[in-house]
Amino acid sequence: MKIVIINGSPREKGLTASVLHHLEKNLTEQGADVEFYDLSTLKMAQCRGCCACYTIGHCSMNDEAEMLTHAIENADGLILGTPTYASNVSGHMKLLIDRGHFVIEQLLSEKHCITVTTGENYGSKDASKILKKLVLYSGGYLVRSIVINAPFNSGISSSEEKQIEVSEQKLFRAINKHKRYPFQSLFHGIIFSFGIKPFVKKKGEKYRGVVTKWKEYGV
Ligand SMILES: Cc1cc2nc3c(=O)[nH]c(=O)nc-3n(C[C@H](O)[C@H](O)[C@H](O)COP(=O)(O)O)c2cc1C
Repeated sequence: MKIVIINGSPREKGLTASVLHHLEKNLTEQGADVEFYDLSTLKMAQCRGCCACYTIGHCSMNDEAEMLTHAIENADGLILGTPTYASNVSGHMKLLIDRGHFVIEQLLSEKHCITVTTGENYGSKDASKILKKLVLYSGGYLVRSIVINAPFNSGISSSEEKQIEVSEQKLFRAINKHKRYPFQSLFHGIIFSFGIKPFVKKKGEKYRGVVTKWKEYGV
């Protein structure tokens, strides 16, 4: 079982990283093969908006955003973590969302995911909503979404530790048992069938890279 964990905080030892490393430790102890990435240490250029990926199936820039997209593609599960910045995800996480081939290419098709959002006071639920929508619109299963509000530079409390452990166990079981989520599938089916698919079909040849990906992912 391969799980990719992504920290969208610029702080490698911040609260988001603590939560994610906690998940990493527990999952590794259970036998999962975990890859941990700090986005702040990766070389990822801003999306140039050329739309070449829709035609050729990969980005025209071959940097670490592409490497990460492949790592996600080959994983059974994904954990995305971000701090709340102005009621939104961090800049690092937004860059990955722009550069990753998430929604149109259905990168998370039937992958089990956890989202982690940390914040200090207001807005963490808004940031969490962005990650949750990203997972569901990209064909993933949202196993848990963890939201932790705590003062800046504080650690994880024991009740939060419990919440993290429960989430990690749920993810492990869901992947092992290939668990399906009928309501999420229904929601995704509506978005895909009435929104994404007709849009891509209308684009024809220009989006042939997207259709190739769908075939690869069995969408
Ligand atoms: C630029 C910036 C903007 C922030 N905006 C918010 C916010 O809108 N709402 C909130 O609850 N916390 C906000 N925070 C606090 C962080 O989200 C919070 O401390 C988070 O846990 C930090 O995560 P980290 O330690 O992993 O970097 C902000 C922090 C920074 C640096």
